[in-house]
Amino acid sequence: MSDSTRRDFLKRSAAATVLVSGAMNAASSAMQQAAQPAAKPENKPGTPARIDVERRQFGKTDMKVAILGFGSAEIGFERTEQSVVDKILNAALDQGLNVVDTAECYVDSEEQIGRAIAGRRKEFYLFSKCGHAKKDGGRGDAWDKDSLMHSIELSLKRCKTDVLDLIQLHSCSLETLQKGECIEALETAKKQGKVRYIGYSGDSKAARYAVESGRFDSLQTSCSIVDQECIDLTLPLAKEKGMGVIAKRPIANAVWRHDKQPDNGYVVEYWKRLEKLAYPFATGDKRSDSGPDGAAGTALRFTAFQPGVCVCIVGTSKPERWRQNAELLKAGALSEETQKMIRARWKEVASADWMGLT
Ligand SMILES: NC(=O)c1ccc[n+]([C@@H]2O[C@H](COP(=O)([O-])OP(=O)(O)OC[C@H]3O[C@@H](n4cnc5c(N)ncnc54)[C@H](OP(=O)(O)O)[C@@H]3O)[C@@H](O)[C@H]2O)c1
Repeated sequence: MSDSTRRDFLKRSAAATVLVSGAMNAASSAMQQAAQPAAKPENKPGTPARIDVERRQFGKTDMKVAILGFGSAEIGFERTEQSVVDKILNAALDQGLNVVDTAECYVDSEEQIGRAIAGRRKEFYLFSKCGHAKKDGGRGDAWDKDSLMHSIELSLKRCKTDVLDLIQLHSCSLETLQKGECIEALETAKKQGKVRYIGYSGDSKAARYAVESGRFDSLQTSCSIVDQECIDLTLPLAKEKGMGVIAKRPIANAVWRHDKQPDNGYVVEYWKRLEKLAYPFATGDKRSDSGPDGAAGTALRFTAFQPGVCVCIVGTSKPERWRQNAELLKAGALSEETQKMIRARWKEVASADWMGLT
């Protein structure tokens, strides 16, 4: 199930030369502005100490990203109060966050982000997604050029910014990608300076096509202890081609927290997979072990240190979470033994239909 549909949400040409040149100038000044997060700001008096989170080159872009980012589907779909979002994002920025990922369709998460941290825009890279806002105001699949341009305009307004660091096609199908119009739309937005880079967010064959096409700066794809298809299918090629890779659902929705099959349809498949995989670090007492070798620590470290991955965008509605997870990542890569065990278990247990889940 796509995250744009989760939690019942869906129930509910290039321009003329002169224009392009003007837009390019605008893009260039916006780029200078948005390139700021590469520098590590100092500790601010009265705020929790910064955490020395590893920063990685984001493909061939000019961005250097902290390996722990922030995914905002959860704050949107869970309708987290603005005061809590203010705390989550400001605390995380103070402590070392520099990537915030959102989407036009994560309920009002773009507005939440704009209200919370638009005033600190130079401190973070802002990634959004498009493909579900029709130009006539309707909702649903909207992969035509006019709708995608309309969606990008909405994102800019809602996030209170002049430029997005990255816009991603939000999990369109392989067939839609092959038609090409949606990619051309993003390329136009880039030429016009509305976005600095373009990416594809999705999985399996469509993600592979996006990587092979050579037209995207980045790939966002599911990668975790219960979702490993990308490790062979897309990550090595994405790395070879110099793409920035964003791991979505990187902590496997922490499904070990549920004693019984959860009601939330979005996480059920992951819960079932984990039951079958039965990793020792995600059973018994290890489930609540908050250290780097407990369930959360092992799961997050597995994803963050997969070759090719640049940033893990963990979702949360808790102000203390970003720091906790950043502390877990300080332990670095898993031991070779644990890494091999997780991969071996996957190869032994995963059935052919355990594809990357959007
Ligand atoms: N198609 C797409 O483009 C697509 C699809 C899915 C997701 N995404 C992106 O990926 C982001 C992340 O996905 P996600 O939120 O579904 O998955 P996730 O990051 O794997 O899981 C988030 C869940 O894990 C919990 N959690 C985080 N750290 C924890 C810890 N240390 N211990 C225990 N629980 C912990 C959070 O609970 P608490 O609230 O308690 O912290 C939250 O419920 C999204 O926000 C979105 O930006 C994109």
